[in-house]
Amino acid sequence: MHHQWLLLAACFWVIFMFMVASKFITLTFKDPDAYSTKQEFLFLTAVPDSRKLQEEQQFPEELKPTGKMLADGQLAQPLVYMERLELIQNVCRDAALKNLSHTAVSKFVLDRIFVCDKHKILFCQTPKVGNTQWKKVLIVLNGAFPSIEDIPENVVHDHEKNGLPRLSAFSDAEIQKRLKTYFKFFIVRDPFERLISAFKDKFVHNPRFEPWYRHEIAPGIIRKYRRNRTETRGIQFEDFVRYLGDPNHRWLDLQFGDHIIHWVTYVELCAPCEISYSVIGHHETLEDDAPYILKEAGIDHLVSYPTIPPGITVYNKTKVEHYFLGISKRDIRRLYARFEGDFKLFGYQKPDFLLN
Ligand SMILES: *[C@@H]1O[C@H](CO)[C@@H](O)[C@H](O)[C@H]1NC(C)=O
Ligand SMILES: *[C@@H]1O[C@H](CO)[C@@H](O)[C@H](O)[C@H]1NC(C)=O
Ligand SMILES: *[C@@H]1O[C@H](CO)[C@@H](O)[C@H](O)[C@H]1NC(C)=O
Repeated sequence: MHHQWLLLAACFWVIFMFMVASKFITLTFKDPDAYSTKQEFLFLTAVPDSRKLQEEQQFPEELKPTGKMLADGQLAQPLVYMERLELIQNVCRDAALKNLSHTAVSKFVLDRIFVCDKHKILFCQTPKVGNTQWKKVLIVLNGAFPSIEDIPENVVHDHEKNGLPRLSAFSDAEIQKRLKTYFKFFIVRDPFERLISAFKDKFVHNPRFEPWYRHEIAPGIIRKYRRNRTETRGIQFEDFVRYLGDPNHRWLDLQFGDHIIHWVTYVELCAPCEISYSVIGHHETLEDDAPYILKEAGIDHLVSYPTIPPGITVYNKTKVEHYFLGISKRDIRRLYARFEGDFKLFGYQKPDFLLN
């Protein structure tokens, strides 16, 4: 009897020490939003603001036109954007996918959503699709800086200084009001290409200002998921795939803190079944989608975008095949099983060439 109590006490001690340790690890990591702007191409710049000034003189604050408005002579929105929203509604209703399409609108989600009160816009941040540029646009629109060029690089992701609050900073009632009435959007891309991009950016290029990906996260993944124990190279895409496809990945996610925003599903980031977004942009068609979003948000007269170099956002099957080469079908199928919700919700084709 005495022994059992000792054993129990020892267990609690170990669990307690583990919790303390993991808290410490998480706290030593820096702000996950502070990723480099590398690879996120510039496509938005502020334009001179004469019309805006006129408008402000003409309209009292409440009557100012904001959010989703149809310009004069404009018919309903293009079919493709309506179809995207319909697809989401249908997939959200699919009971078999419920676990993969639904999520709680938790603080984690509210932390991902940025607020532009002046123009009644909510933007859910999904890394690796040009987010830094969208954030800069909203910072300028919010009025903290006169133009995009004036925003110091270190302030873009500093939400105490940049005047771009997170939705989580508001009270429940204020959050609900904004979710109900504001223009809401986010951008997605092919889920597997997104993971390749995150892997390259965080673990291969080893960004100078983010040493924790190489020094804390990569070793954690290798320890648990490396198959070949004699392999001594740094983290490989295979290790990453095995971590993401593991149904028990949350154990490690908790230690990685908010850094997981670079690879958790779009469902977990933005709750597309719980929040009814106004427009979903696709990285692959950003040339059309970026101007459309600006127009629908009612800010196209305030910001413009240089042309995106052709081909840069196109899905590259050769690259995807190259990265998955040599990874077992079992591991790829487990990965797909986790990201199936994202594939289905946003209309990305199931990558049969990898799975069969
Ligand atoms: C959904 O998740 C719950 C709890 O995590 C589990 O019990 C259930 O079997 C899952 N359903 C499906 C369809 O995967
Ligand atoms: C494991 O890794 C070592 C070192 O790279 C390599 O020589 C060996 O062939 C690998 N074994 C298997 C089964 O892949
Ligand atoms: C696709 O990716 C491959 C391998 O990374 C690269 O060599 C090729 O240039 C890319 N193709 C296009 C059209 O970008």
